[in-house]
Amino acid sequence: MQFPVQARLKDGTPVVITQATEADVPAFQALYGLIVQEGWSYPHQRPLTREETYAYWFEGKTTIGAFLDETEANTELLGGFYLKPNWPGRARFVANAGFMVAPHWRRKGLGWLLGALMLRHARDMGYRGVIFNLVFSQNHIARALWEKLGFVTVGVIPQAIVNDDGTCQDAIMMYRSLIADPGCP
Ligand SMILES: CC(C)(COP(=O)(O)OP(=O)(O)OC[C@H]1O[C@@H](n2cnc3c(N)ncnc32)[C@H](O)[C@@H]1OP(=O)(O)O)[C@@H](O)C(=O)NCCC(=O)NCCS
Repeated sequence: MQFPVQARLKDGTPVVITQATEADVPAFQALYGLIVQEGWSYPHQRPLTREETYAYWFEGKTTIGAFLDETEANTELLGGFYLKPNWPGRARFVANAGFMVAPHWRRKGLGWLLGALMLRHARDMGYRGVIFNLVFSQNHIARALWEKLGFVTVGVIPQAIVNDDGTCQDAIMMYRSLIADPGCP
């Protein structure tokens, strides 16, 4: 799987999906700030600083950004994901990933495209599967997307998330194998 990848969203918008660099940290910080404010998909309760954004989205990870493909410089970040080993050492072949798409760019197929590219990239990197540790049970949008990409629920952490209004919701763990034959290499 070679980045950059050029593609078009459902409405014809041209996008380039490419490896993000440290120069993109402010754009990830701004977008993740919006996601945190929405409050229904990630655990953070306040927007992250630049350093925290680097630690959460970049450090020790493959970080991919989707940009509007209109200019030479990749100016507008439409979405992105990170990919990293979920556990160290002997269990490092199971990956974990995090995704976000900017509110105004949703429902155009970008989430699905990023998810499909992540799976292909993870397989090429030698991962044997991908686990999502903390899908909010009330995040029906993400759950539908992950199911569409072949993830199944492997666990439920009851009432793991306390919503801002004091109500609770479960955390769902979802898994997608990347190997046809579950035997060991
Ligand atoms: C989840 C998210 C990445 C989806 O991005 P997106 O670009 O809107 O997704 P797509 O347009 O590719 O939609 C793919 C599928 O997701 C589901 N989906 C997307 N938006 C939906 C909505 N508003 N209602 C119901 N299902 C929806 C559908 O199954 C859809 O397939 P369809 O278009 O054939 O119906 C985006 O909503 C987001 O960034 N949410 C906040 C962060 C988040 O939830 N991250 C994942 C945490 S586990």
